Amino acid sequence: MGEKILVTGGTGYIGSHTVVELQQNGFEVVVIDNLSNSTATIVDQIGRISGKKPRFYELDLCNEAALRVFFRENHDLAGVIHFAAYKAVGESVEFPLKYYHNNLVSLLNLLRFMEEFEVPNMVFSSSCTVYGQPEVLPVTEQAPVKKAFSPYGNTKQISEEIIEDTVNSSALKAISLRYFNPIGAHESGLIGELPIGIPNNLVPFITQTAIGKRQKLMVFGNDYDTPDGTAIRDYIHVVDLAKAHVVAISRLLKGIHKESLEVYNLGTGKGTSVMEAIMAFERVTGMKLPYEITSRRTGDVPRVWADTTLANLKLGWRAEKSLDEMMASAWMWEKNLAAGILEF
Ligand code: UFG
Repeated sequence: MGEKILVTGGTGYIGSHTVVELQQNGFEVVVIDNLSNSTATIVDQIGRISGKKPRFYELDLCNEAALRVFFRENHDLAGVIHFAAYKAVGESVEFPLKYYHNNLVSLLNLLRFMEEFEVPNMVFSSSCTVYGQPEVLPVTEQAPVKKAFSPYGNTKQISEEIIEDTVNSSALKAISLRYFNPIGAHESGLIGELPIGIPNNLVPFITQTAIGKRQKLMVFGNDYDTPDGTAIRDYIHVVDLAKAHVVAISRLLKGIHKESLEVYNLGTGKGTSVMEAIMAFERVTGMKLPYEITSRRTGDVPRVWADTTLANLKLGWRAEKSLDEMMASAWMWEKNLAAGILEF
């Protein structure tokens, strides 16, 4: 059996894909999730893909006493990949304290027990949101961290600072991965994104519109300073992203990292506008997507895409899947959901 890794938020969107990749690379995985934005059925689905169900603890990281019991039972952990967090930008503006409390207290508890139980390796789930609207594109890890647009974004900035201070004063070694826009689903069609209620993000909204759950997609603004006027993002296949986590935790475990905290952008390095994303979906599915241009969404940056040189060179990782593959897999997942592959 390989080294034992804790994945917090392991039934969530990126977490579940990462658990699969870890298991397929020989790691033993334990999952903690409070199921606030996912379902326990995902553990079974992971088992169907990789042939092994990860050990699952339904647990809230804010619950210090329960987390201590967990660490006592799992004192042989080699590392932690920390995904568990609230992530809805709009909701964080409405309920900032809920976001600060959940995202920060859970990290503090985790770091404290990692120190106490001598688990020195952490991969942290961060976001390109820390750059705001970068002055220079593609954006490198050296770009200044800007004042966050939302409490959610601020929790990512503060979390990175907490981790930085901790690595400077303890045995902890960490890699912070700044994701651009993860989309798509596993090729098995057994795991994918599960938005609760009305999706905030573009691709789940597109697929839900195509399946008939939503009437039409609202395109938030076509008056940006971009070639077609719609906002540009760097969409990355969730499986490519998941693979980067395996590389990152392996780098820490092998001790080949150069700094006690390393930071990497994870994107494709390619910008795609909202209209280009719609066209890719239409091309891949042969469907016509009903949409309407509406006003800009507050807080959206006009353009952001990654310089991925550092991850390419240092991690030896590169995003491989195309936008068409991302759209095709997202659509297969939506169809599988409609066909009832998951029981809630
Ligand atoms: N968009 C629409 N209509 C929709 C939804 C989105 O036009 O119904 C547009 C947005 O305005 C934006 C683009 O599609 O231009 C992508 O929007 P998403 O909501 O999918 O993604 P964001 O880039 O806004 O947010 C993502 C993550 C956040 C993270 C942020 C960092 O969801 O967690 O990137 O930039 F903070």
